[in-house]
Amino acid sequence: MSGKIQAVRGMNDVLPEEAHLWEFFEDTVREWLRVYGYRSLRTPILEKTDLFVRSIGAATDIVEKEMYTFTDELNGESLTLRPEATAACVRAVIEHNLLYAGPQRLWYWGPMFRHERPQKGRYRQFHQVGVEALGLPGPDIDAEHLVMCARLWRLLGLRGVTLEVNTLGSAEARARYRTRLVQYLERHEERLDADSKRRLRANPLRVLDSKNPALAELIAQAPKLADDLDERSMKAFDELQSLLREAGIDFSINARLVRGLDYYNGAVYEWVCDRLGAQNAVCAGGRYDGLIEQIGAKPAPACGFAMGIERLLVLIKEEVQVTARVPDVYLLRQGDRAERYGARVAELLRDAGLAVVLHCGGGSFKAQMKKADASGARFAVIVGDDEAGAEVVSVKPLREVGEQLRASVRDAVAIITNRASSDS
Ligand code: HAM
Repeated sequence: MSGKIQAVRGMNDVLPEEAHLWEFFEDTVREWLRVYGYRSLRTPILEKTDLFVRSIGAATDIVEKEMYTFTDELNGESLTLRPEATAACVRAVIEHNLLYAGPQRLWYWGPMFRHERPQKGRYRQFHQVGVEALGLPGPDIDAEHLVMCARLWRLLGLRGVTLEVNTLGSAEARARYRTRLVQYLERHEERLDADSKRRLRANPLRVLDSKNPALAELIAQAPKLADDLDERSMKAFDELQSLLREAGIDFSINARLVRGLDYYNGAVYEWVCDRLGAQNAVCAGGRYDGLIEQIGAKPAPACGFAMGIERLLVLIKEEVQVTARVPDVYLLRQGDRAERYGARVAELLRDAGLAVVLHCGGGSFKAQMKKADASGARFAVIVGDDEAGAEVVSVKPLREVGEQLRASVRDAVAIITNRASSDS
């Protein structure tokens, strides 16, 4: 006998009991994006591997060891399940010449894939909502993004999500800094752990990102990127800070914030929450002015961010009372005629905008009533052959004391909608 098949490690099912949390999040996010004038862009989950190598960077953790990459056997092409969507978004904007129509404010939603070691808040399939603004040099648009995020945390009812910002400067400034940092780290190479030694050669700025406490002091004393920054980036960063202060957004500067993807320059940031443990970033992003050119188009400035939905849902679950959605009506029916008539009534009730669960599978009224109760519906609409013959229904309130009434379908709608609206 063959055994049970389980989901792939690090990839989760979202069960119906959790669905209302996701729906609350998704509804809030859609409305939030609408009021800021962002339009959605949907790109495929699979892209050519080279897109990610070129954009995220060959020496990053994501590209080196976390991508789900395989060869399409039909044509030998190397494909990758997207580990993030900024690169795909830029690819699509270039491919469809969207920037000809002017700057683009875009958003996307969906699953991303990274072959990381699964732990609380870190999965191999996770979901992001991302926002990208292409063709705008900032820092006004960078500030818009941070103000947007702050509004979303308020809309979701989240507290304790704090903002850390940094600037990575121009590519030249970063190259100067990289040289200085490598010299410093080489002088102390014997103190580095294996991971950091590897990063020292491939991607030295990422050594600063190490979570190893044994390296904390070495990192604290490392040269600071701020000392190499170019004037333009510094000016933009100062301006961004003053825009944030004017908007009443609290933030702290974290000089060690370097991000794990190579495409960034200028301002970068992370929204973090201490209650999440090691995986504390709920949203992160910044400016990536070089990426559009790197992917093969005329240079244009860009910036954006993405948030991890699973991590935000942990916070929402802790802090926000989200009530599960219940149907307005559970429709019980028994008898040959009643079965047919009941199905017709259910459609009429739905025409009137009511959410109706139609009992299927037969059974006694008593057994059906148990199901009606368990469904959480506000009303039971009961149809026997008697009601079917007279073309009426019986309506029984389930969540408050009240009599069972016989009514025409139209009157039933009136009873249910009045009670339903005075309930809510
Ligand atoms: P990222 O920092 O790699 O940036 O991911 C953004 C967010 O996705 C993280 O802050 C975290 O909340 C969530 N996340 C990342 N990896 C995992 C995982 N394995 N499990 C659960 N959640 C995770 C980006 O992806 C950039 N594309 C953001 C961006 C958009 N920058 C500019 N535009």
